[in-house]
Amino acid sequence: MLMQTHDSSDAKAARAPSDPVSRRRTFAIISHPDAGKTTLTEKLLLFGGAIQLAGEVKAKRNRVSTRSDWMGIEKERGISVVTSVMTFEYGDCVFNLLDTPGHEDFSEDTYRTLTAVDSAVMVIDAAKGIEARTRKLFEVCRLRDIPIVTFVNKLDREARDPFDLLDEIEKTLALDVAPVTWPIGRGRSFAGTYELGANRVRRLDAADDAGVVPVSGFEDPLFDALLTEAGEADGWREEAELAEGGLKAFDLDAFREGHLTPVFFGSALRNFGVRDLIDGLARFAPPPRGQDADKRLVEPTEPRMTGFVFKIQANMDPNHRDRIAFMRVCSGRLNRGMKARLVRTGKPISLSAPQFFFAQDRAIADEAYAGDVVGIPNHGTLRIGDTLTEGEDLLFRGVPSFAPEILRRVKLTDAMKAKKLREALQQMGEEGVVQVFLPHDGSQAIVGVVGALQLDVLKERLQAEYGLPVDYDATRFTVCRWIAADSEVELDRFVGAHGSSMASDLDGAPVFMATTAFSLRYEEERWEKIRFTDVKDYQ
Ligand code: G4P
Repeated sequence: MLMQTHDSSDAKAARAPSDPVSRRRTFAIISHPDAGKTTLTEKLLLFGGAIQLAGEVKAKRNRVSTRSDWMGIEKERGISVVTSVMTFEYGDCVFNLLDTPGHEDFSEDTYRTLTAVDSAVMVIDAAKGIEARTRKLFEVCRLRDIPIVTFVNKLDREARDPFDLLDEIEKTLALDVAPVTWPIGRGRSFAGTYELGANRVRRLDAADDAGVVPVSGFEDPLFDALLTEAGEADGWREEAELAEGGLKAFDLDAFREGHLTPVFFGSALRNFGVRDLIDGLARFAPPPRGQDADKRLVEPTEPRMTGFVFKIQANMDPNHRDRIAFMRVCSGRLNRGMKARLVRTGKPISLSAPQFFFAQDRAIADEAYAGDVVGIPNHGTLRIGDTLTEGEDLLFRGVPSFAPEILRRVKLTDAMKAKKLREALQQMGEEGVVQVFLPHDGSQAIVGVVGALQLDVLKERLQAEYGLPVDYDATRFTVCRWIAADSEVELDRFVGAHGSSMASDLDGAPVFMATTAFSLRYEEERWEKIRFTDVKDYQ
């Protein structure tokens, strides 16, 4: 089915990518905790093997752990707190896999990361189907038209009927499904997958997920050899025939527009089906696409370098307190040593040591292209949402900031250190660890977070990096919104009338703080000309 019905799409997909931009696949994995994201990531990296981006990165190896294991809190709780990026090469393609934190409390990080990818792999537990967080992350992808490849995982365990799972994806996500492979048995009798329309079987018992064998059709005796329980093979034949004939065929355009997902079945733990998945990404997932900036759309093939920062990560190397800004290159070629313009300040910034990140290593990047994510070491010059160009005055849009759900006042035990605390909070705010609001009445800063674990991270980092022991006090505020109006006078009038409930964020943007959701609604209704928003672009 896959190979037969959509020749034009297929030809497009099969064209061998040769130039640096069309070789890139920049993607993230979205899933509910426990579905198998970490396991799948490890297996994908295995396929990447040794990293040699021949001719493009003359890598100076630098054996530093990039795993985010520096932070005690993470070790204690067994969660991945920070986002990182892993680059690997497989076949003709360079893959940039952007990792996202599994824990819901760090979802802001995840949303920002999704602004930097061109596609996503949705991992589903075959016994559980679509779960809450998968669904939420899927919605974020849909808003950004990010095409999704689906991997149904854990077929080696008791699993739901594949038709049932596909039906659920279709109904709950309003997304067409086109299975590329079909499982042969499930749970204890899981024996491999059949590539629909291609008369090929991948056997689970073959070494390292490599063994593909041709079959003559559904009647092939191999199916009787693989499915040995009474009636099992015949039952499977019926099911697979139905899948092959009755379900939608893959259509590249529908996939790239975000209307259809190709589905692969497998077991990440058994390293099974992962090769089909990665081949699928190479063939179908889109290369870097144009990125929206304030003044125009920036095409990846434009000659001049542009990029935006979507993540700041501190302390990746415990021996050197460094701070890395992760930038997605959007166009042109980034060369080591080049001077770029930081558009927010208009100042030049020298890219003397941009880095690529691999599974366990990092290496100096001599050059990078659209779709690549490079780490730029800096000491607080770069912030989330920053745009870098070769001189052009443009700003990329869409790295979001969300109105926090928890607000706390930071309580400092040593009043002499107030200035230091302000500086530290400024930094933490710029890194996106927390949001910082400075009340207009001059009282202590208020920090806002989406999830409570962010507060723990802030506390630990203030202690470890700045020697500042802090605690949190409740504030009377429970919700906040950025405010704007077409008329400056109207905005001033609102700010004037709400002096003790007003604060500014780190960019100086006005923020209204309300004691209850009810009082927020009351003000919204009373002040019709004021726009209250719960999402703000970083710029
Ligand atoms: P996550 O990052 O999405 O949270 O999931 P993770 O990969 O950590 O996997 C969650 C659990 O599911 C792990 O077991 C993992 O071994 C298991 N798992 C992942 N893929 C498969 C699969 O294809 N088949 C089976 N049977 N299990 C799978 P755990 O017991 O929680 O952890 P561990 O002690 O095995 O590491």
